[in-house]
Amino acid sequence: MKAFVALYSALVLCLLTGAAFSQRPRPKKPPKPPKPTKRPSFRPAPTTTRGGPRTSPLPSLRPPPLFRTVPNCFLPPVLPGRPLLAENVANLRVVPVIPSRVHYIYLQNNFISEVTAEPFNNATELRWINLANNLIKKVQKQVFEKVPSLLFLYMERNQLKEVPADLPAGLEQLRLSHNQISKIPPGAFGKMEHLALLDLHHNKLSDSDMGKATFKDLKNLVQLNLAHNILKKMPASIPNGITQLFLDRNIIEDIPKGYFEGFSNLAFVRLNHNHLSDKGIPKAVFNISTLLDLHLAHNQLSSVPLFNMQLEHLHLNHNSIESINGTQLCPVNLASASLNDEALIPKLRYLRLDGNHLIPPVPLDVVMCFRHLRAVVI
Ligand SMILES: *[C@@H]1O[C@H](CO)[C@@H](O)[C@H](O)[C@H]1NC(C)=O
Ligand SMILES: *[C@@H]1O[C@H](CO)[C@@H](O)[C@H](O)[C@H]1NC(C)=O
Ligand SMILES: *[C@@H]1O[C@H](CO)[C@@H](O)[C@H](O)[C@H]1NC(C)=O
Repeated sequence: MKAFVALYSALVLCLLTGAAFSQRPRPKKPPKPPKPTKRPSFRPAPTTTRGGPRTSPLPSLRPPPLFRTVPNCFLPPVLPGRPLLAENVANLRVVPVIPSRVHYIYLQNNFISEVTAEPFNNATELRWINLANNLIKKVQKQVFEKVPSLLFLYMERNQLKEVPADLPAGLEQLRLSHNQISKIPPGAFGKMEHLALLDLHHNKLSDSDMGKATFKDLKNLVQLNLAHNILKKMPASIPNGITQLFLDRNIIEDIPKGYFEGFSNLAFVRLNHNHLSDKGIPKAVFNISTLLDLHLAHNQLSSVPLFNMQLEHLHLNHNSIESINGTQLCPVNLASASLNDEALIPKLRYLRLDGNHLIPPVPLDVVMCFRHLRAVVI
């Protein structure tokens, strides 16, 4: 009975901590014990706004915290037959045999170089595999046949050259950033109707790897991160229910006319550090009524693209913009007297224009139109 009470309170504590975690960013992990062998040091993932806005006076409109990682707390070794805790316990070189009924395995920060199928033979209930920050070059095909209930697969910071084949159809999150992926096998994401997060940032993907149908079946995709690859074109077949599309740090030169037509939930678009110029941006391509946050910093734009009333944050810093005409830019007719109607006031609150060729002050017509503007960096 006592044991049960202890277990119960540990669980309550855990749930409480879990609730707290969902309210605020995850705190830094305690320092890791030193490792005997030399390893590339672990660096935090670069943010998409690296290089500028860190010192920005503007608060950044962050995508909703849909995809937080699980707090360490969800690893109570006391739960009988449940999670297997293996993070940092040993400098593992292979995946240990996973007992049946285990739901989570945490094997990040080890030295595993290949994932074979045998250890998973009895792991039919596995929901969550974290193998981040290992040395994995290869995943045996049969691994995923053994884990039909898998929901989360984290393999960022490894040495994969391609997206693993035959991923389980029920997967909800797939994190493969910071690998050397230059190949997506045809049909790799076929049938994955539940996938909400696909993170492929910081790899070596080029246009030829983005087949016409690569992402087509991902009907529930919420976030696609293809930042820091070598894409020259906007990827085709992005599912049109997507909310967050991140394409920073590629070499994209233009956006096809009507590219975002039919997107019903698109709210966050990041295209910082690309090769976009005015020529590559069709007139109303960003006039998307669901868009809240648009990042076009560090490109070669010389004018401000048109956008919709609903847009709240616009990042245009470090381009070649020489002038800004609020009358032309205003999504509503400035001349009409109806601007007292709250519903007709454009929602733009933050505007970054620094690193261009603009001289303050902000033109009067900009201020007149965008009455909710709280900060402009010029
Ligand atoms: C897998 O399960 C079977 C049957 O429950 C058991 O006999 C076997 O030892 C288990 N294998 C491993 C590797 O745990
Ligand atoms: C932008 O979209 C709105 C509908 O959301 C439309 O009324 C408006 O005419 C469009 N503006 C341009 C310049 O295409
Ligand atoms: C801004 O654009 C409007 C309409 O095209 C034009 O009448 C006005 O002169 C422009 N303002 C400046 C400062 O160029």
